Amino acid sequence: MTTNTWTPNTWRDRPIRQAPTYPDATKLNEMERKIGKYPPLVFAGEARRLKEQLARVSEGKAFVLQGGDCAESFSDFTANIIRDQFRVLLQMAVVLTFGASVPVVKMGRMAGQFAKPRSADNETAGDVTLPSYRGDIINGPEFTAESRIPDPSRMEFAYFQSASTLNLLRAFASGGYADLHEVHRWNLGFVEASPLAERYRDLASRIDETLAFMTACGMTSDTTRDLRETDFYISHEALLLPYEQALTRIDSTTGDWYGCSAHFLWIGDRTRQADGAHVEFLRGVKNPLGMKVGPTQEPDDLLRILDVLNPANEAGRITLISRMGADKVAARLPPLVRAVERAGYKVVWLCDAMHGNTISTAAKLKTRNFDEILREVRGFFDVHQSENTWAGGVHVEMTGQNVTECTGGARHLSEADLSERYETFCDPRLNAEQSLELAFLVAAELKRRRAPAAPVALAAQ
Ligand code: PEP
Ligand code: CO
Repeated sequence: MTTNTWTPNTWRDRPIRQAPTYPDATKLNEMERKIGKYPPLVFAGEARRLKEQLARVSEGKAFVLQGGDCAESFSDFTANIIRDQFRVLLQMAVVLTFGASVPVVKMGRMAGQFAKPRSADNETAGDVTLPSYRGDIINGPEFTAESRIPDPSRMEFAYFQSASTLNLLRAFASGGYADLHEVHRWNLGFVEASPLAERYRDLASRIDETLAFMTACGMTSDTTRDLRETDFYISHEALLLPYEQALTRIDSTTGDWYGCSAHFLWIGDRTRQADGAHVEFLRGVKNPLGMKVGPTQEPDDLLRILDVLNPANEAGRITLISRMGADKVAARLPPLVRAVERAGYKVVWLCDAMHGNTISTAAKLKTRNFDEILREVRGFFDVHQSENTWAGGVHVEMTGQNVTECTGGARHLSEADLSERYETFCDPRLNAEQSLELAFLVAAELKRRRAPAAPVALAAQ
């Protein structure tokens, strides 16, 4: 099906979905050439390091937390927003590290998550129909004909915003902000402020004791780099291929091609056709790759795509991000897990418990319910437990801001509360508190599942 010759251009001969139509091809070409000369945002060695860490996840020796906005935006671009997003991800990671008892690989949907696939090409309000908003890297969210025209100059803005965001993330990750003791103190603050403090206090105090024990053993931020700094990777959906191609570079140390817009790139649920443009583009770059697998994914087709993307079956190369929905995960995920196991593919399995659980309120706001999200995570763990495979991590749409976009959680947000701070440019995100609650509940679940089984089997013998 695929020929062996790959260049950053070969995707252009394949059928493509979700691609914007730019009215001015000359302007588009000029922008591609311009960005093609800009410095890469990430270094190939970093992507290789992430791939090694993901290989450890595929062996059951580490866990992944991937999270951030559904869509980053040009207008919501401040240091505080980046800082809060990063902080909550770190807070979640500490809790999950304790729950899973393995290192947590941290990836933000950040510094480049700008392009959005849409279910419908058009959007109608009243008697006006306009092309859909496709993310700030393509067109504008304002409901006017002008703003919805795809504009290549947005790619350049996205590039610089990504560079600036990544710069701050790198400073936070290694400049002292990510100190484990500090992150834990923030978590204690969260627990005490939560209406469900009782429920979270036990886990928090066990982490407290562990840190005190480590300090007593001489492992402090001054003596141990891992307590003071962290690795943090950026990722996004590689949807807008002209932009991704423009940031493709040959790594001088290996001679291999890398997508240098982010460490980790993923293929969305709508663009994962084995012979399609997105699979073709990504098969040629050496980055670790993700692919969303939704309820329409068939096992045979999945194996075909894995063969195209990872013919050498390299561990850490492929992360499959299951997004089935709470009702479907128990039926749709096992055949995929079994097919992958039977074929001997080494993959990481993540649970995106967001995209299969989106509903529309009476007031036509998109929302997700916290309990349904948790139910899908539990369903995902159940499947991996019964298949004897490793549930490798979670993928969440969240923000460090105190928004009201998902219902439920400790404060019992109702549909009526949503209009208070509904700020997303695309899908509804968990707010800071809901994100931490999810981390605490998932960690408790992981601990419970790791605990030695009750002696039921003995009694039955
Ligand atoms: C997303 O991650 O924002 C997204 C669009 O997901 P999916 O491709 O799974 O629908
Ligand atoms: Co989304």
